[in-house]
Amino acid sequence: MIRASIIVHGGAGKYSEDLRIPREQGAKVAALEAWRILVNGGSAVDAVETAVAVLEDDPVFNAGRGAVLNADCQVELDASIMDGRTLRAGAVGAVKHLRNPVRLARRIMEQGRHVLLVGAGAERFAAAVGIPTCSSEELITERQLQRWWQERRADLEAMGTVGAAAFDQQGHVAAATSTGGMAQKHPGRVGDSALVGCGTYAEDGRGAVSCTGHGEPIIRVTLARATVDRLEAGLDPMRAAQEAIADLARKVKGEGGLILVDGQGRIGCAHNTPAMTAATVDAATGIPRLLP
Ligand code: GLY
Repeated sequence: MIRASIIVHGGAGKYSEDLRIPREQGAKVAALEAWRILVNGGSAVDAVETAVAVLEDDPVFNAGRGAVLNADCQVELDASIMDGRTLRAGAVGAVKHLRNPVRLARRIMEQGRHVLLVGAGAERFAAAVGIPTCSSEELITERQLQRWWQERRADLEAMGTVGAAAFDQQGHVAAATSTGGMAQKHPGRVGDSALVGCGTYAEDGRGAVSCTGHGEPIIRVTLARATVDRLEAGLDPMRAAQEAIADLARKVKGEGGLILVDGQGRIGCAHNTPAMTAATVDAATGIPRLLP
C-alpha cells in the first residue's frame, strides 16, 4: 500500500444546501488530483499546491474566482504554503489580480528572499516571475455580487476558505491555504490564511495544518502552529485537532476548523461551525471520501 496521505478542506461555516453537493464534489476532485501526484512519487508541496489551485479554480469556494467581496465590492485574496522539509514558506496578502494566489505563494517560497508579499508589490513580483495576472472582474462571480448587495449591513462572515495538508512517500509534509477572507472586510485586511503559523504550518516529523474560519481569533492563538505543537506531544491526530479547536473557542471565542496530517501521515480534522467540507483519499483503494 502507498505510504502517503492527503486531506483537503473547502472551508468551515454554514452553507446553503444548494452548494453542499458541488462543494463536496469539488473537495473530492482536489483530493484526487493531489493523490495522483503523491502516488507517482511527487512531493507533498506539489500535492498541496495542486489541491489548492484546483479549489481556487472552482467558484463554489471562497478562494480565487468566486471569492467573497470586501466592503469596496472588490476581491482581495490571501494564500500561503509551507514546506515541512525545509521550513520554507511563501505567502501573499490582499492580491486582486491573480486566479491562483497559491502559485504565487509557492514562487515566493522558492525564491526564498521574503516570506510574505502583499497587494501591488506581490502582483509586481508575479509579473516578474511570469505568473499571469487577470482583471478583478474575472474573479467576481454573479453569486458573490448578489451576496454583496444583500449583506452590506450583515456581520462579517468567512466561509469556504480552501486548504490542503499532505504527507509524501519520502516522509515529508506540507500545507497550503487560500481564501478571499471575510465578506465585507475592510480593504487591506489580511487574515490568518496569509500568515505562517496561523492559517498554515508544516514541519517534518511533527505535522502540517491548514485552518479555516474567522481569521482574527485564529491569528490570536496562532492556531496552525499550536496544533502542530499538540501533535509533537504525541496526541492522536483527531484528538489534537479537536483539542486545538476547543482551545480556539475557549480562549478567544473563535469559530472555525482545521485539517492536518501528523509526522507519520495520519490525518485529523475538527470544526466548531455547523459544517466543514473536507475530503481525503483512501490509500488502499485510491478512492476519495468525505470526512465528517
Ligand atoms: N480564515 C479566513 C480569513 O479569516 O481570512
